[in-house]
Amino acid sequence: MTDQTTWNRVDDYLGVKLLGSDDALESALAASDEAGLPAIAVSPLQGRLLELIARSIGARKVLEIGTLGGYSTICLGRAVGPDGRVISLEYEPRHAEVARGSIATAGLSEVVQVRVGRALDLLPGVLADGIGPFDLVFIDADKTSNADYVDWSIRLARPGTVIIVDNVVRDGRIADPSNTSADVRGTRRMFDLLESNDRLDATAIQTVGSKGYDGFVYAVVR
Ligand code: SAH
Ligand code: DHB
Ligand code: MG
Repeated sequence: MTDQTTWNRVDDYLGVKLLGSDDALESALAASDEAGLPAIAVSPLQGRLLELIARSIGARKVLEIGTLGGYSTICLGRAVGPDGRVISLEYEPRHAEVARGSIATAGLSEVVQVRVGRALDLLPGVLADGIGPFDLVFIDADKTSNADYVDWSIRLARPGTVIIVDNVVRDGRIADPSNTSADVRGTRRMFDLLESNDRLDATAIQTVGSKGYDGFVYAVVR
């Protein structure tokens, strides 16, 4: 049987084999830690997956909802290249400040823009600015609004846009009828939207690793 200890050991093994050391990402984590931000960034292997997906689709414009300390943001910023653009939305000014510092350290200040506010308040401005359509949207903020974030992503998309939603399994709570927490209900509302929406083809993959047992949605706009 597998457990968290095994998942950690395997993530460590895979990290050594596939990632090596990464000064900018390690210092982003350290800065996050020192500033007292929660340790809930994507794992290094997940961050690499985001980067590789973005590169695979030739993404030049990426929207991220939920910056935290900028870990995933840096992964995405690297993928879009020097002429690309990442807009990342973050509610907590302190998180955004820490993220901007780490994004600068990573040499991505010209590529990444962190906007501060509630994502649902900022998204109309992103639309009005005409920066989109985005090639990739990474949704990783408050889970209660996941359905709204997917809805907005479609409005900011073109056919072929990839939408990834983090943390959609949460130790299996998504499929536990006795769990009615706001987060889980929010993500169920998102799955209801995926079920009924004919503009998205979607799958979801369950994951284990250093972040426990969780999963993500991978959707493509028709
Ligand atoms: N994507 C990051 C982790 C994000 S954690 C990474 O992998 O490195 C979730 C973030 O969403 C937190 O920083 C939190 O402050 C932010 N957040 C929560 N509610 C939000 C909202 N309504 N609008 C924008 N950001 C929000
Ligand atoms: C939490 C949020 C995340 O985005 C994540 O990847 C893991 C945990 C949380 O709020 O607990
Ligand atoms: Mg997450």
